[in-house]
Amino acid sequence: MSDTRKRGAILISGRGSNMVSLLQAAQHESFPVTFDLVVSDKIEAPGLSHASGVGIRTHALRSCRDGRAAWEGELHAVLGEADIDLICLAGFMRVLSADFVDRWSEQILNIHPSLLPDFPGLDAQAQALDAGVSEAGCTVHVVTAQMDAGPVLGQAVVPVQASDSVDALSARILTEEHRLYPAMVAQYAQTFWATKDAANAG
Ligand code: GRF
Repeated sequence: MSDTRKRGAILISGRGSNMVSLLQAAQHESFPVTFDLVVSDKIEAPGLSHASGVGIRTHALRSCRDGRAAWEGELHAVLGEADIDLICLAGFMRVLSADFVDRWSEQILNIHPSLLPDFPGLDAQAQALDAGVSEAGCTVHVVTAQMDAGPVLGQAVVPVQASDSVDALSARILTEEHRLYPAMVAQYAQTFWATKDAANAG
């Protein structure tokens, strides 16, 4: 029987712990996405060697020296060659252009370590501690041209403790990230493509 699951790519820049949680979830046949490709903008990203170690095709993008358009052209081509339907950003530290996001409209998801719309951008956990909030968390959202501002698919909340360091809070949030991201990817893939398929059939 042919595999009707959608084909996913994961984009990383670093250790890739969210990537690992997605790869693990996708080992179950009931998960609606297979991850066929991991791309990094950093050849030394530890997540890249983990992915190739478990038999996933990997690609390290060349440096951005030739300009952003060429860099994004390479990324687009690699994703196209692998026949990718869905892109999951997982600790991918580059901002994608509006053009790129348009070409992959509604097909890029991201996880961010704050309760968006609070604390977008870098160092979200430190921003939360500086603001003195009593709750923090993470958000999975659809990527749009405006950074960390696309439609929210789901959030998980954790308490902030008075004694928290950035590392302690980040670790507490990360545990939730590993649970939330695969769940939201599954839910999104099921509803998104069911709607598309119904529209195409109608
Ligand atoms: C996570 O906290 C994620 O929310 C943020 O970057 C971090 C990546 O961690 N976007 P990892 O590489 O998945 O371990």
